[in-house]
Amino acid sequence: MADPRLIVALDVHSMEDVRALVETLGASVSYYKVGMELYYRVGPEVLSYLHGQGKSIFLDLKLHDIPNTVAEGLCSLMHLHADMMNVHASGGYEMMWTAAEKVREQAKRDGIVAPKLIAVTILTSIGGDDWKEMGFSQEIREQVIRFAQLAQKAGMDGVVASPQEASAIREACGPEFLIVTPGIRPAGADVDDQSRIATPSSALQNGATHLVVGRPIRSAEDPKAAVEAILREMERV
Ligand code: C5P
Repeated sequence: MADPRLIVALDVHSMEDVRALVETLGASVSYYKVGMELYYRVGPEVLSYLHGQGKSIFLDLKLHDIPNTVAEGLCSLMHLHADMMNVHASGGYEMMWTAAEKVREQAKRDGIVAPKLIAVTILTSIGGDDWKEMGFSQEIREQVIRFAQLAQKAGMDGVVASPQEASAIREACGPEFLIVTPGIRPAGADVDDQSRIATPSSALQNGATHLVVGRPIRSAEDPKAAVEAILREMERV
C-alpha cells in the first residue's frame, strides 16, 4: 500500500517515460513530484494524466521573483490543481506573504481547496564549501532555520529542506509545519549530486513529513522493489 508521505520525483523527459514509471510503480506510490525539467517539456498534460490516475501532485517549479510576479505566477498555475507548489524562501517575507495571500484568495473565489505552499530553504545539493564560496559566513543550518521561521511567519504551510535540518526546523516551527525533504538516500544508494542527505527512516525520525525520492527509485534495476524497500523502512517509524 502507498504511503502519502513518500513523493516520487518524476524527473523524466516525456509522457511516455511518465506513463512507464507510474504504471510500473502502480498502487505503491500515491504522490508524485513534477519538477521543471518535466513540466517545461510536456506542460499541463502530465498533471491531467496524474489526476486521471488518482495521484496527488507536488508541482515543484520553485518560483523566485518579485512578490507580485510570484503571486500571479502561482495563481496562473492554480487551474492545474496541484496539491502542493513552492517558491524560494530567499525571495523574502513580502514575496512569500503576497503569494500565500493571493493563492488563498483565488482558491476561495474558485471554491477549491488551496494548494499547500512551501518554501525552498537552501538546496540540498549545496554543501559547506559551495556555501562559503557564495560568500556566506554563517552556518547553513542557521540560515535554514531562519528561512523556515520567516516562511512560517509569511503564512507558508511548510518548507523544503535537507533531512539533516529537519529536527531543528521541527523544534523551531512546531508540530503542524510541513517539512518536505529531498536528499533521501537509502543505505548503500548512490549519493549523485546531493550533499546533505539521510536515509528514509532517519529523515522521518528527525521530523520530516514528506520524503522526495527520485534517482534511488528511477535508476534502480527494479524501481518497484526499491519503493517497497523504502515503504518497509518508513513503516517502522
Ligand atoms: O534524484 P533525487 O532523489 O536526488 O531527486 C531529488 C528531487 O528533489 C529533484 O527533483 C530535485 O530537483 C528536488 N529538490 C532537491 N533539493 C531541494 C529541492 C528540490 O533535490 N532543495
